[in-house]
Amino acid sequence: MKLLIDDAHIDAIEKICELFPVAGVTTNPTILAKIGGNPFDTLKEIRSLISEEADLHVQAVSRRADDIVAEARHITDILGANTFVKIPAVPEGFKAMKTLLETSEILVTATAVYTPLQAFVAGQCGAAYVAPYVNRIDNMGFDGIRVTREIKEIFSANIMETEIIAASFKNAQQLLELCKCGVGAATLAPEIFYAMINNSAIDSAVEHFVDDFESFAGKDKTMLDFQ
Ligand code: G3P
Repeated sequence: MKLLIDDAHIDAIEKICELFPVAGVTTNPTILAKIGGNPFDTLKEIRSLISEEADLHVQAVSRRADDIVAEARHITDILGANTFVKIPAVPEGFKAMKTLLETSEILVTATAVYTPLQAFVAGQCGAAYVAPYVNRIDNMGFDGIRVTREIKEIFSANIMETEIIAASFKNAQQLLELCKCGVGAATLAPEIFYAMINNSAIDSAVEHFVDDFESFAGKDKTMLDFQ
């Protein structure tokens, strides 16, 4: 399962890239609104930080299919290879996906996915990824993990190449459940990255090892001080 960062703050992205194996960054209009200014300034900075090979997902905001297609071309013209255009999985979005599939090599991520059949239709329309919103589905009283698992089963049963990029996580437990069933990718807000690894019991165990070493070797000594 590839891990992506669902955020546009450069300092947060930089720190997470230092610590974690990151395959790319996803954004949406709400995330870009937190930064403000020209969205392409932000996106170009993210692109230069994560390298040309990493995935960058950018959402089109037009409502009509023709405009979505034009926006998709504009986004990929500016941001280059490995840019996925996020298109909402709604009727005009499906129409745009079909046009892009027939007329371009633009990679599409179908977004705002709440149901398995929405994902199925997006996959049939040529989406490379579908993004089920795990926590938002939970918040509606349904089961986001179950929906995501069902999407995985549908793609497998119908021999579809569309991958899942699970999105909208509130906690690391939701991510754990999807790791166990091996979805293609998950995009996480910075706090979920840290929730995966922050654990006071582990910190305490590591501190205890350091204390024991220093008890015989001396303060701040490490293996480098010995031959
Ligand atoms: O990018 C779409 C998705 O990640 C939204 O997440 O946290 O706003 O529900 P959230």
